[in-house]
Amino acid sequence: MLKGEYKVGVLGATGTVGQRFILHLHNHPFFKLVALGASSRSAGKAYRDVTKWKQVKQIPESVQRMQVEECTVEHFQQCDIVFSGLDHDVAGPIEDALRNAHVAVFSNAKNYRRDPLVPLVVPLINTSHYSVLPAQQKSLGLTKGYIVANANCSTTALVVPLAALEKAFGPLEQVQATTLQAISGSGYPGLPSLDILDNVVPYIGSEEDKMEWETYKILGGVSAQNDAFDYHAQSPLTVSATCNRVPVIDGHTVCAGVKFASKVKPSPQQVMEALSAYTCDAQHVGAPSAPQQVITVHQEQDRPQPRLDRDHQNGAGVNVGRVRGDALFDIKFVVLANNVQIGAATSSVMNAEVAALQGYV
Ligand SMILES: NC(=O)c1ccc[n+]([C@@H]2O[C@H](COP(=O)([O-])OP(=O)(O)OC[C@H]3O[C@@H](n4cnc5c(N)ncnc54)[C@H](OP(=O)(O)O)[C@@H]3O)[C@@H](O)[C@H]2O)c1
Repeated sequence: MLKGEYKVGVLGATGTVGQRFILHLHNHPFFKLVALGASSRSAGKAYRDVTKWKQVKQIPESVQRMQVEECTVEHFQQCDIVFSGLDHDVAGPIEDALRNAHVAVFSNAKNYRRDPLVPLVVPLINTSHYSVLPAQQKSLGLTKGYIVANANCSTTALVVPLAALEKAFGPLEQVQATTLQAISGSGYPGLPSLDILDNVVPYIGSEEDKMEWETYKILGGVSAQNDAFDYHAQSPLTVSATCNRVPVIDGHTVCAGVKFASKVKPSPQQVMEALSAYTCDAQHVGAPSAPQQVITVHQEQDRPQPRLDRDHQNGAGVNVGRVRGDALFDIKFVVLANNVQIGAATSSVMNAEVAALQGYV
């Protein structure tokens, strides 16, 4: 049960992910936005004067004149929760300092994703990994404050249907994933238009490694004996990813092939039914940002499409289509996730909602 209203802040508030945080949080039922942070270039100025606002909705009235601060403990220790949309080159020490100042930090950056004591949480799958938070705090001598990371945006798209398939049909053996990733995934201003218009760029630095590695941690469990992750050690799963940047503004598409470990293979119809039936803890505990339907399965032959489907349920779920058999894999399908919503800001906010509802804040 909720104790009341939580004071929250946003780091990197002027950026691509930060702007989505603002839209999620300015009118939230139990988070009250009290602090905004960005670089020293923006600090000391009104939010509306320093942000290159790129959203269709206007900057909320209550946020327009809020002063942007430097991302220091001094300005954020009043917060119960801080959402971080900082780049990885600056996120590490700032997030760590806030954790040590007893703040619960929900980060989009990659810095702590591989830390064995930091849960890597996709809120549509594995909020159960919060059980490792007491061990994180104990290791640092903290009674309050921790870091929770959310996953890379293309990992998030892939791993949601994988979790649903594992739950329904048992361990997976092989997954091959090829992405078509939106430009907004690289922040603002992103790639120069002359590099991405009329083009596909078949390389996104360290993205393939993130997709392959993060999947193991997210689908793994937490060992009750030593409060550590098992990184899916009991699973035969091998993941192979290929990542491409395409001229789409928002919405990452992933074409996936999956081989099941079991000798008895589900049919495409059974797969579609299992994906549609999948539910998650964020829904069960009543997180306000949780989608009604975690996985929307499209029957049309030419869906999902980024322009048509990325904003379904405010981008809080994922969309799957083209579920079919395959000569190499048992099943293949296409998944679309909104990279700046469930791939970034919505994940962090939903993670924090579940943490608050389960008494971790
Ligand atoms: N875009 C996505 O789809 C996506 C998805 C998942 C995860 N992520 C991750 O989310 C994070 C943010 O990405 P983004 O796309 O929002 O980046 P972005 O648009 O480049 O925004 C970066 C933000 O960081 C601030 N900043 C830069 N240097 C700083 C410093 N030295 N101290 C404090 N603040 C500083 C910027 O403030 P100023 O305006 O003052 O420069 C801005 O608010 C990254 O770690 C990224 O990998 C992004």
